[in-house]
Amino acid sequence: MIVLIIGGTSGIGHALLEHIHNQYPTANIHATYHQNIPTLHADQRIHWHQVDATSESDIKGLSKKFDQADWVINCVGMLHQHHQGPEKSLSDFEPDFFARSLAINALPTMLLAKHFTPLLKKSANPRLVTLSAKVGSISDNHLGGWYSYRASKAALNMLIKTIAIEWQRSVKQGCVLALHPGTTDTPLSKPFQKNVPPDKLFTPTHVAQQLLRIIEGSLPIHSGTFYSYSGEKISW
Ligand SMILES: NC(=O)c1ccc[n+]([C@@H]2O[C@H](COP(=O)([O-])OP(=O)(O)OC[C@H]3O[C@@H](n4cnc5c(N)ncnc54)[C@H](OP(=O)(O)O)[C@@H]3O)[C@@H](O)[C@H]2O)c1
Repeated sequence: MIVLIIGGTSGIGHALLEHIHNQYPTANIHATYHQNIPTLHADQRIHWHQVDATSESDIKGLSKKFDQADWVINCVGMLHQHHQGPEKSLSDFEPDFFARSLAINALPTMLLAKHFTPLLKKSANPRLVTLSAKVGSISDNHLGGWYSYRASKAALNMLIKTIAIEWQRSVKQGCVLALHPGTTDTPLSKPFQKNVPPDKLFTPTHVAQQLLRIIEGSLPIHSGTFYSYSGEKISW
């Protein structure tokens, strides 16, 4: 089995990588990093690639290193950067932060779908999985705020749904999923953990186990679904 984890240095991506490495002794695992040097060393079964997931030439270049792929799992994401956090109100909105959020949270999945579908198509049971966020659900938005993150994850969700429709015709044996990991203790959620009850702040290892169970159990009939870490469906 050939697995590609985009964002293997993310809190959740790293835990998924370790988990797949342990659970699938014959899996050949490729993972990407962007700015942070991976702490899990390459071995005969782990191969690292430096990739800017917002760059089409980088994603295209990465795809050229493969003959086939079975699972592509995108764990790249951004909620805050430098000293800029998600918007509390309209007055906090900044066009550059909005554009960056779209570029990091939505664009990579589209580039991966474009360049990896021909490789995934060769697999008997291919999966294209992206970590989204429940706050990207339009129907579930009761609190407001976080304009850029919400909108970029809503855009990502629409891309996932639309790719799944195309795959129904072109990759019939495949499954495309959006997954919500829940609030997980990683750098992404660090500044926002204060009011999270301890039993709702998950470790990356726990989340990786939950997500892997969903990925393993997914079939073509589940394609185009947005699942929570618990396995429940989330409405778009
Ligand atoms: N943590 C949570 O509570 C939570 C909740 C809901 C949804 N999610 C979603 O789950 C996913 C993973 O989140 P996380 O908490 O594990 O994040 P994280 O630990 O903050 O890691 C972010 C990852 O994104 C990568 N990245 C950022 N910009 C990139 C670029 N231009 N090209 C390539 N890689 C880039 C980083 O790579 P480098 O470090 O190598 O630069 C890193 O691997 C995200 O999509 C997030 O929105 C997380």
